[in-house]
Amino acid sequence: MGQQHGITLDELINDEEARFIARMGASAELGARGGQVMPGGVCSSWASSRPLPVWVSHGEGALVWDADGTEYVDMHAGYGVNVVGHANPHVVKAVQDRVTKGTHFAQPTEDAIVVAENLAQRFGLPKWRFNNSGTESTMDAFHLMRAITGRPLVVKIEGTYHGHHDSAMISLFRSADQLGPESEPLRVPGPGISQAMADMLRIVPFNDLPALERVLDQHRGQIAGMILEPMMMNAGIIPPAPGYLEGVRELTRQHGALLAFDEVKTGMVVHYGGATGLFGVTPDIVCLAKALGGGLPCGAIGGTEEVMAAIESGLFDQVGTFNGNPLTMAAAKATLLEVLTPDTYAVADDIGRAMLRDSTDALTAAGIPSHGNVFGFKGSVVFDDTPSRNYREFLRISTAISHLHFLVQHNGGIFLPPWGKSESWTLSVAHTHEHGQRYSRNVARMAELVSGLGDRSSELFEVGSYN
Ligand SMILES: Cc1ncc(COP(=O)(O)O)c(C=O)c1O
Repeated sequence: MGQQHGITLDELINDEEARFIARMGASAELGARGGQVMPGGVCSSWASSRPLPVWVSHGEGALVWDADGTEYVDMHAGYGVNVVGHANPHVVKAVQDRVTKGTHFAQPTEDAIVVAENLAQRFGLPKWRFNNSGTESTMDAFHLMRAITGRPLVVKIEGTYHGHHDSAMISLFRSADQLGPESEPLRVPGPGISQAMADMLRIVPFNDLPALERVLDQHRGQIAGMILEPMMMNAGIIPPAPGYLEGVRELTRQHGALLAFDEVKTGMVVHYGGATGLFGVTPDIVCLAKALGGGLPCGAIGGTEEVMAAIESGLFDQVGTFNGNPLTMAAAKATLLEVLTPDTYAVADDIGRAMLRDSTDALTAAGIPSHGNVFGFKGSVVFDDTPSRNYREFLRISTAISHLHFLVQHNGGIFLPPWGKSESWTLSVAHTHEHGQRYSRNVARMAELVSGLGDRSSELFEVGSYN
């Protein structure tokens, strides 16, 4: 520690970024070449993260290799998709079998029924339709809620991301000074989205039933529904307070408003039946994507008989050329029936709990405040000892130390999603305790580095701007 005494957090970050960049010759080259034909040299702007986008060569089970040939334990999982592990043999076989029989007809194939039956059993909602992404799923939910009720407004949680369509790109990823008063948060549209779309929403904080009740009362007869993640993701992990989801269910029902759970990140991941199954509160609509396709692009919406009757009657046309694509249905069927079986969740939970325990032990020993969450395949360590209840509280967590953690993990052979503070780990059925121990050892290394900050450790609690 002695040799590090007096080092600053910025210097630690610069050191780790330099080590990161030094390993990334091939990624830097591909990034430069890609930049000639793809803006930012990436396929989605969220792959464009600091210090540079990592190009991947291949993956197998719990492991991925970058373009420079470095092996990592993958806990990024393609933003929470690859819970089946890379090149899972069941999914590979299903896709191989299907690909030789034709991959697209825009007419249903039998696998779609099996997938829908399994989802009905997991989530307790009788009817399902398919699409291709989380964005499409939540867009369908917004449209359904408005079509069925004939009402204009939808309630959304402050800071929650529901995908990149016009109804949803509002009030997300903003800094504290852009949020407006807590009693009436500003409705700030994302770039390219009109204020008119923003004004179709009402924003409330997560875990705040009185705020929801106020909004429902103020706009009686005007609220079509509410969309929320039953467990807030993209802000680390914020679980619902006891009674919150039950209260939301009750209030929306009282006001004749529909309730949609965005389970794009949590569905089939935090529990066999998603957060819906975990917390035992069933909404009118569930939105799925990510893990559902076992690595292929697949989304789905489930609904009650009453909600889905709007599709049956033609009141709302739920459409899409690639909906229920045979290749994705084959992959989803293998994922649901052969891979993400009920017994897998306790195994992942056990690995995650050991990771959290060992990590927080190391941090506590170094005097660094921390806590965390583990739910099935998902988990996170947060460098703060007070659990956040909503987005405004989450903003108080240091971005700088979260970024340092991402770098130390990456340099130590664990591939986490970038945007350290917002994201969580995703394990797969191929992960073992040994993989988890690599994560905890990296946390211990970070704790050692940070303890070298000595009396400058107050820097840790500055929010910083390492995005
Ligand atoms: C909670 C949530 N909803 C919706 C989406 C959008 O999903 P997609 O990127 O598949 O469109 C995401 C993406 O990260 C998400 O985290």
